[in-house]
Amino acid sequence: MSTLYTGIGELVTNDPGAGDGSALGVIADAALLVDGGTIGWVGPKAEAPEADRRVDWAGASVLPGFVDSHAHLVFAGDRAAEFAARMSGLPYDGGGIATTVAATRGASDDTLSATLGRLASELHRGGVTTFETKSGYGLTTADERRSLELGRRFTSETTFLGAHVVPPEYRSDRDAYVRLVAGDMLAACREYARWIDVFCDRGAFDVDEARFILEAGIGSGLTPRLHAAQLGPSAGIQLAVDLGAASVDHCTYATDADVEALAAGSTVATLLPGAEFSTRARWPDARRFLDAGVTVALATDCNPGSSYTTSMAFCIAVAVRDMGFTPAEAVWAATAGGAAALRRDDIGVLAVGRRADFIRLEAPSYVHLAYRPGVPIVGDVVIGGTVVS
Ligand code: NIG
Ligand code: FE
Repeated sequence: MSTLYTGIGELVTNDPGAGDGSALGVIADAALLVDGGTIGWVGPKAEAPEADRRVDWAGASVLPGFVDSHAHLVFAGDRAAEFAARMSGLPYDGGGIATTVAATRGASDDTLSATLGRLASELHRGGVTTFETKSGYGLTTADERRSLELGRRFTSETTFLGAHVVPPEYRSDRDAYVRLVAGDMLAACREYARWIDVFCDRGAFDVDEARFILEAGIGSGLTPRLHAAQLGPSAGIQLAVDLGAASVDHCTYATDADVEALAAGSTVATLLPGAEFSTRARWPDARRFLDAGVTVALATDCNPGSSYTTSMAFCIAVAVRDMGFTPAEAVWAATAGGAAALRRDDIGVLAVGRRADFIRLEAPSYVHLAYRPGVPIVGDVVIGGTVVS
């Protein structure tokens, strides 16, 4: 069964060979043919082929589904009080992670799954058609493994983050914890993960520990990605580039040398506006990365501590308002950029043969994602050719 979506006032394809020739490849007055789960044809409405069924979208803006390449969705508990304290002046230092670890260890599989399901449906309703999730709130071999096992039920993009922080029971022997993560924990988790991540920052893991753990992960068939430079400058950015990591995330305190290294390498810089917003941290200047030619992604970082949002539209609005992105750059980073951060070439672009993952905005232009902050303008959400929301 083929469906022709027509009456698309503005189609963002992310195919620079299409439409206006910009990075967004915008086609005006467009149509899109979906055949099975993939895109069968894209182009001006006047040239559209016949299809079994037609849907008229009355001038709407249509774009690839958002790709959220960084989230922490396997957790229990709530840290609203910590957020309120921060808004009264307390700084964020990651110390609250231990609160979520305790709650997650004490939660049943059903409780964790219910939260995952609720957040997955929030993501979908907000236009996210692919998302990643990490472990990192279990920090025992059994709890990390079950976090990934549960996460896998909702997405194939799962990341082993046993090296989120050193848990309280290992505080007097952090080396033993690093060995556990790189040894038995990794061995128990690898079959449920595609990626391995380390929080390489002040108060978490240093660059030598991060290298040791990531190299063990690579040896076990996982691909590295990193959290780095959220709380202060971190050699983790350079490490990510050296290891050919898919992505290095946060980059709030990236130095000029870090930006140069990223521009010369293949690692995507993922910026997380929700984290700066919710921790009242300084804004990274996205212009430094974009103007240097670094591939940049935007993601939610959804987690109960530093960024409890599932809204990519919110992240786009903040990225434009406070981080120096143009609306076009922010939309690209939230779609094709996320796909690059997950090394996926089947999503993030609307072109023949790619997955039919796209969204209809209740607006004539993608600019409205930033221009109408806080307004739920994501209308239909299509994943693999099926309308899910
Ligand atoms: O990406 N930075 C480390 N991890 C999370 C925060 C986790 C938490 O505070 O619970 C982040 O922001
Ligand atoms: Fe994170």
